[in-house]
Amino acid sequence: KSKEVTCSAPVNIAVIKYWGKRNTALLLPTNSSLSLTLNQDDLRSTTTIRASPDFVSDRIWLNGKEENINAKRLSNVLSKAKELRKEMEEKDADLEKLSEWGIYIASYNNFPTAAGLASSASGFACLTFALSQIYDLSINLSQVSMLARLGSGSACRSLFGGFVKWEMGTKDDGSDSLAIQVASETDWPGMEALILVVSDARKDTGSTEGMQLTVETSELLKHRIEKVVPQRMLDMEKAIAEKDFDSFAEITMADSNQFHAVCLDSYPPIFYLNDISKAVIKVITALNARSIHTDPSGKKKGYKVAYTFDAGPNAVLYMQREHLSEVLGVIDYLFPRKSTQKVGEYYGKAKEVLENVDKTNVAKVCDGLGLKQWPKGSLTRIISTSVGDGPRVLSKE
Ligand code: ADP
Ligand code: DP6
Repeated sequence: KSKEVTCSAPVNIAVIKYWGKRNTALLLPTNSSLSLTLNQDDLRSTTTIRASPDFVSDRIWLNGKEENINAKRLSNVLSKAKELRKEMEEKDADLEKLSEWGIYIASYNNFPTAAGLASSASGFACLTFALSQIYDLSINLSQVSMLARLGSGSACRSLFGGFVKWEMGTKDDGSDSLAIQVASETDWPGMEALILVVSDARKDTGSTEGMQLTVETSELLKHRIEKVVPQRMLDMEKAIAEKDFDSFAEITMADSNQFHAVCLDSYPPIFYLNDISKAVIKVITALNARSIHTDPSGKKKGYKVAYTFDAGPNAVLYMQREHLSEVLGVIDYLFPRKSTQKVGEYYGKAKEVLENVDKTNVAKVCDGLGLKQWPKGSLTRIISTSVGDGPRVLSKE
């Protein structure tokens, strides 16, 4: 007598950043945020949960290594899920008393954990989604997202595919702080992402502690929360609804810049960008500058690509498919790999795109940008992916 379910869930990368909590126990944010869900065929967490009356206690393994099941955020998520199951069992006597069984959880990430590639987002989204499946919880995905939020704030956005907002909510109990899908991956097809891995080492200042330092010490954060993000959320939703890449790119880069500005405005200041990150910003700015023009209404048009950086030096570039090969060609030219970095491992899927790049055009573009070539091996890896769907049930028995 036992039950088992296996699910997978994707990573998401925000274009309007969450940075700051108004309640650190319930992980309630100081502003709303919006992200794109990345294709889980490339980056994902996969979690199996087995429930059995024979398991005397709950246990969890992450990438094959047993972790502490009593870690606060993990146990908050588990106890909340069990509580919801118990409520169902109390209402329906025919239901198996799964809430009294022990559970074993095994989860794998197919990419580096705790390296600024949002493993906590896919990991907690996957865990809560799998819990909702094994317990047959009669709640919708936004309600599951509230459960994921208790594990890690940004995880709540990984319960949906496509373009997802996390409404900050106003209630003290957090019952209106949840994720909602703004548009699906098929509503705006052809949105591509390139992750430029500058370093896959563990980050210095974790997001959790970093954002609270900002809440406590940054004056600029108050301005951001009150005066900037609310309008930006509306503008971004409009840009997505209208598939307006120019506005999307402008807002994405402005919000990444402001997020790093509030980090610098904290005391002691937090630095996430390094010289390579800054060089990537320069390249993208120069590349866009070649095609940007102002239309008669004064609006800037012709953006090819947008950068965004989370709490680490890695860059995420968003662009529409028609520009992928040029952008990748330029990056490959200015940030060449070392001969010891194997082509397949270094470029992954991007290798195929690169093979079709117009090399003469790229050389011409790069010369025109007037930027220097970086030493070989400045980037560790390039991951090419696109916008994808939400969590999947892989098996259930
Ligand atoms: P990242 O930048 O990768 O999100 P964090 O340091 O913010 O790194 O979060 C890493 C933590 O997220 C891990 O220590 C673990 O607690 C949690 N986590 C990561 N992957 C999983 C997973 N697959 N299942 C459950 N929890 C996970
Ligand atoms: C910069 O979700 O990792 O990636 O809620 O404390 O777990 P906790 O923080 P976390 O912070 C993510 C910060 C960010 C921006 C974002 O994803 O919106």
